[in-house]
Amino acid sequence: MNELDTLVTSAQALFAQSASPADLENAKAQFLGKSGRITELMKGMAALSVEEKKSRGAVINVAKQAIEAALNARRQALADAELETQLKAEALDVTLPGRSRMSGGLHPVSLTLERIEAIFGSMGFDVAQGPEIETDWFNFTALNTPQDHPARSMHDTFYVEGGSTDAPNLLRTHTSPMQIRHAVQHVKRHQSLLDAGQRMPEIRVIAPGRTYRVDSDATHSPMFHQCEGLWVGENVSFKDLKVVFTDFYRTFFETDDLVLRFRPSFFPFTEPSAEVDIQFASGPLAGRWLEVAGSGEVHPNVIRNMGLDPERYIGFAFGMGTDRLTMLRYGVSDLRLFFDGDIRFLSQFQ
Ligand code: PHE
Repeated sequence: MNELDTLVTSAQALFAQSASPADLENAKAQFLGKSGRITELMKGMAALSVEEKKSRGAVINVAKQAIEAALNARRQALADAELETQLKAEALDVTLPGRSRMSGGLHPVSLTLERIEAIFGSMGFDVAQGPEIETDWFNFTALNTPQDHPARSMHDTFYVEGGSTDAPNLLRTHTSPMQIRHAVQHVKRHQSLLDAGQRMPEIRVIAPGRTYRVDSDATHSPMFHQCEGLWVGENVSFKDLKVVFTDFYRTFFETDDLVLRFRPSFFPFTEPSAEVDIQFASGPLAGRWLEVAGSGEVHPNVIRNMGLDPERYIGFAFGMGTDRLTMLRYGVSDLRLFFDGDIRFLSQFQ
């Protein structure tokens, strides 16, 4: 092997050993740099004759080109390797199955509330909403509830901070405070008509929402839902209540094979008062009376607290348990299932 072949071989070996672009550039300098071996050989030709320069130059040039080729090949190899590592580091495994997203849906109790709103809406009822933290006035006193009524006891009512010592704020125990809240707003809006002795538009409203009582078992939850209803005008009787209720429950359950029973009862805010039971003629619940609501003609004291004259205005009110309706509609036996948040249960309603 001649001197130039040896030079090329050693350059190739050195390049191959260079593990990084910086190493490689250093190695290059040893051969092609200003004082590299090839450059030195070129300089060494100065003393040669023209003929010798030609042949010697050609040989050196071949070696130089071989070294340059080896250099470029190694540069490319190093760049490829670096790209490879980078790609590996940033790799996405496209074979990994995607994370599927569950589609959301309405809670069964919300479905019931929507249904109730649609049915009463078709009968001309507005929908109102009110606060869940109530004052003693709206929850009890304005509704004609005496100071010593058992519903006010700590065993039944969640009291919260705020209000006064003898009338602390509370979590509303029913949606009935909305009777007063809504009626007062309504009366305020139409006060000029009332003052002029003219006819005020009737109050016709439902108020669905969360309610709270100290109570917990398979059919009672400390938080539950009710829907209040109120229809007050100059001649709204118990008969109207019966018609509206019968129509509502038959529409809600999509059957005319359903009868209602108005069972005499007592509520401080209605007189007379009735508990409402329904009975299906067929199906799994046939023949059983199921309690679904409290109702009655609004008590004159309550009409007065609405800012109206009980000699002129009269109407009915009701409060229905909407969780109960949801249980009946879907055949659910334990109320607590509604509030456990178990996806396996909830997804059955979508
Ligand atoms: N607020 C009563 C309850 O929670 C229901 C009711 C409402 C009764 C309106 C009469 C009139 O039991």
